[in-house]
Amino acid sequence: MLKRYYDRNTRLFLWLGGSRSALTIHRALWGPGVRTRQEALAYAHHLLLEQIHAAGLVEPRLLDLGCGVGGSLLSLLAQLPEGSSGTGVTLSPVQADLARRAARERAMEQRAAFLEADFLCLPALSPVDFAYAIESFVLTAHPAAFFQQAAGVLRLGGQLVVIDDFLLREPTTSRESSLLAAFVRGWHAHGLNTPQQAIRSAALSGLTLLHEADLSTMVRVNTLRDRAVSAAVGLGRLLQLRGPYWDSLYGGDALRACLASDLTSYRMLVFEKSVLQSSPESDP
Ligand SMILES: C[S@@+](CC[C@H](N)C(=O)[O-])C[C@H]1O[C@@H](n2cnc3c(N)ncnc32)[C@H](O)[C@@H]1O
Repeated sequence: MLKRYYDRNTRLFLWLGGSRSALTIHRALWGPGVRTRQEALAYAHHLLLEQIHAAGLVEPRLLDLGCGVGGSLLSLLAQLPEGSSGTGVTLSPVQADLARRAARERAMEQRAAFLEADFLCLPALSPVDFAYAIESFVLTAHPAAFFQQAAGVLRLGGQLVVIDDFLLREPTTSRESSLLAAFVRGWHAHGLNTPQQAIRSAALSGLTLLHEADLSTMVRVNTLRDRAVSAAVGLGRLLQLRGPYWDSLYGGDALRACLASDLTSYRMLVFEKSVLQSSPESDP
């Protein structure tokens, strides 16, 4: 279902998000020093690069879990030495094709591979130093399998970064319940966890939390674009318009309200693989 959703709507999302040149399908983050929307779309990459450098990785092997059309991996590799390389996985063959084309256009196809694959059941891959998931973790209802697969492909001491929406508290009014339900339905966010749930789940796969950052204040929730979407959403609701396009608009609008009322939070969780996973063969 998600595969068809992204196959059909990826071009629309790139257009709606104003991110066709950035090749990203994620939130613009207005962090310190960011002045333009293009810089805000790249801010998540800046945070990942900071983490890569802080981990002392020079020519890392990267893995993008839920890579979209490849903008994040290509941007990171462009800012890392030639010896670095990476793989991106997405459920959507349309996205994998667009990402491969973008890699060719940038002459980076030797360093960046894009696969149509499920991150809950990864194909055989060489061990990686650094894995990350931007706005893809919230889409899976199976966080334990997500962390188990990520831990399985990370080398000991390798890091996993998750940048995504998290639930902060249960809704207390029917309006809050409707907002959360509209977000989950519209964005297919069936894995909306609290940060604590995600951290506990990761620990079961030997992934220890190193660092957690709340990025919510970097997400602008009342821009001209947001107000235009809110107006369209009001009209859509009145006319009872449905379909993936409208659901996605309703979901995005509801998410902005969830963030503004501290129901959800946009966070970065950094984990380190600290324990070797036991394989079935090594179990007594
Ligand atoms: C909102 S998009 C984010 C794309 C990208 N991370 C970015 O920041 O531009 C969500 C991505 O997660 C991917 N995804 C969701 N569930 C997945 C799964 N089980 N396996 C692989 N990819 C998945 C989708 O295919 C899509 O590429």
